[in-house]
Amino acid sequence: MADLTTSYLGLRLKNPIIASASPLSATIENIREMEAAGIAAVVLPSLFEEQVELRDMGVDDITHTDKTMLPDALQHIPEMEGYNQGVGGYLAHIYQAKKAVSVPIIASLNGYYSGGWVQYARLIEAAGADALELNIYHLATKPHISGAEVEQMYLNLVRNIKEEINIPIAVKISPFFSAMANMATQLDAAGADALVLFNRFYQPDIDVAQELVVPTLNLSTPEELRLRLRWVGILAPYVTADLAVTGGVHSGMDALKCILTGAHVAQVASVLLEEGLAYIQTIVAELNAWLDAHGHESLRPLRGRMSQKNVADPAAFERANYMHVLKSNWN
Ligand SMILES: Cc1cc2nc3c(=O)[nH]c(=O)nc-3n(C[C@H](O)[C@H](O)[C@H](O)COP(=O)(O)O)c2cc1C
Repeated sequence: MADLTTSYLGLRLKNPIIASASPLSATIENIREMEAAGIAAVVLPSLFEEQVELRDMGVDDITHTDKTMLPDALQHIPEMEGYNQGVGGYLAHIYQAKKAVSVPIIASLNGYYSGGWVQYARLIEAAGADALELNIYHLATKPHISGAEVEQMYLNLVRNIKEEINIPIAVKISPFFSAMANMATQLDAAGADALVLFNRFYQPDIDVAQELVVPTLNLSTPEELRLRLRWVGILAPYVTADLAVTGGVHSGMDALKCILTGAHVAQVASVLLEEGLAYIQTIVAELNAWLDAHGHESLRPLRGRMSQKNVADPAAFERANYMHVLKSNWN
C-alpha cells in the first residue's frame, strides 16, 4: 500500500480526504464513523456570523424572540440551533469531537463582515479546534459597492481573524472574482494558511404556482470538479497557502485529479450524503489501488505534477482550451 500522507494547515494527515462542512459532522457518532471509515480530518458545520451577533445582542433563541424587536437586517434569520447546536453548543461540540477521535477537527465560521463576532474565533481555538475554516459567503448585490471594496472586506476579515487566533486558518471562497489569481495571492499575503476552492452557492428557485422565491439545495455532481481543477492548477505555482478542493469530489480518481493539479487535500460532502459515510473507505481504497497499479510509493511527489506550470501544454488551462473544445466538437 502506498503512502498517502499529506500535510494541510500544518497538520500531518494520513490521507488527503477530508469531510467538508455539512450536517454530517454535526454528531459525534458520525464523526466516529467517518474516522473508522478512514477520513483524515473533519470540518464541522459552520457557525454563522448572524448567530454570534444575535447572541451578543442577548437573543439566544430567535424562535422565542419577538422579531419586531430586532433590526430589519436580523428579522429574516432562521433558527440554526438544530443545524449547528447554537453558539454555546458549538464550542461543546468541538471539545467533545476532539475527545472522541484522533483525526484533526477543523471548526468553521461563516460570515463576511469584520465585527465583534470575529472574537468568537478565540473561543473556538480555546475549545480545542485544530484549525479554523472561514467560509466567506457574500453576495455583492449593492450596485454602489465595487469589486475592490468587496475584496477589501474579505482581506480585512482574514486579517482580523488571524489577529485573534494562533491556530491555522483556511479561507473558503467562491469562484466569482474578476481576477481570481490576484485575489488568491492577496488572501495568501493577508495570512490565509489555506484556500478552499470553491464554495457552492445555493441558488433560489421560483415557485410559479405560489409566486414565491424558494430556497433549494442540490447535491453536487463530478462535473463541478473541473472548475476547481482549473483554478487549483493555475494557482498552485503562485500561492504559498495550501490548497483544498471542495465541490464535485465523488471518487478516489476525483481526489487524485485534485492532488495532480496541486491540491493538498480533497473535501467531500455530497457523495457521503448520497452513498453513506462508509464510502470514505472506497475513495481511499481507489486512491491506494491507483498508486499501487502505477508503481508510486507515495502521493507526495504527485502533487502539482499537472499544475499549469508543469504540464506540457499550459495553454490547456486557459482561453486556448475553449477554442480547442469548440473546434474538436464542431469540425
Ligand atoms: C447539506 C449541506 C450543508 C452544508 N453546510 C455547510 C456549512 O455549514 N458550511 C460550509 O462552509 N459549507 C457547507 N456546505 C458545503 C460543503 O461543505 C461543500 O463545500 C459543498 O457541498 C461542495 O462539496 P461537495 O461537492 O462534496 O458536496 C454544505 C453542503 C451541504 C450539501
